[in-house]
Amino acid sequence: VIFENSNDASIEVAQEMANLIKRKQLSNKRCVLGLATGSSPIRVYEELVRMHQEEGLSFENVVTFNLDEYLPMDKENTQSYHYFMHEHLFNHVNIHPENIHIPDGKTPSTTVVEYCLSYERKIKDHGGLDFQLLGIGRTGHIGFNEPGSHYNSGTRVITLDHITRVDAAPAFLGIDNVPRKAITMGIATVRSAKRIVLLGWGQNKADIIKKTVEGEISSHVPATYLQNHKNCTFVLDTGAGSEL
Ligand code: GLP
Repeated sequence: VIFENSNDASIEVAQEMANLIKRKQLSNKRCVLGLATGSSPIRVYEELVRMHQEEGLSFENVVTFNLDEYLPMDKENTQSYHYFMHEHLFNHVNIHPENIHIPDGKTPSTTVVEYCLSYERKIKDHGGLDFQLLGIGRTGHIGFNEPGSHYNSGTRVITLDHITRVDAAPAFLGIDNVPRKAITMGIATVRSAKRIVLLGWGQNKADIIKKTVEGEISSHVPATYLQNHKNCTFVLDTGAGSEL
């Protein structure tokens, strides 16, 4: 779906998420959301916060699993995805802290494999992801599933692509400060969601969006694995959709 601008698009996506949360509330069920970081979802979170503050949208029944986190990374570090999520969403809504799951960037290397498996298990124990929000990186990554990521991959440690580190460099005041690794949900984890919405804004995403939507399904562009998901929508603005 191509919108005139990212603001209108973000409001529409936030509305869909709010409707899902409310529908689950009516049947006394938890609503399990897979959440993303980066600049793309910021306006969606802003709108969810507004709906909480002005319309009483409750996050009482919401359980969240974030896609990824840098490794190593302290929770308190302002570059962490942990910090990002609290800043943009969790600090402003009534979500129970125990319902928030974000990969721990301080997991020691000796236990990180087990940690990733337990993250995966926790998602399953909650009945799986009802909704997964995604952005897309210039390498075609979703979460931090860089080129080469396998279709069947689960939550694991990944080595970040050079392009990804270049894109993150300004936030870290130089590429040397960008971590080389991350913990990310896998392609299979993302694809297990019942509903997926990928956000893409601006002309600089147009090329990767074209490859993702119209290109051959391949691990070279991991986001192409979304092509054969049963319920996935790409929500774009005119810039990101301009090459389609
Ligand atoms: C990071 C995140 C991704 C995100 C991507 C794009 O690499 N790990 O989940 O989709 O950035 O970020 P932006 O939305 O700022 O373009």
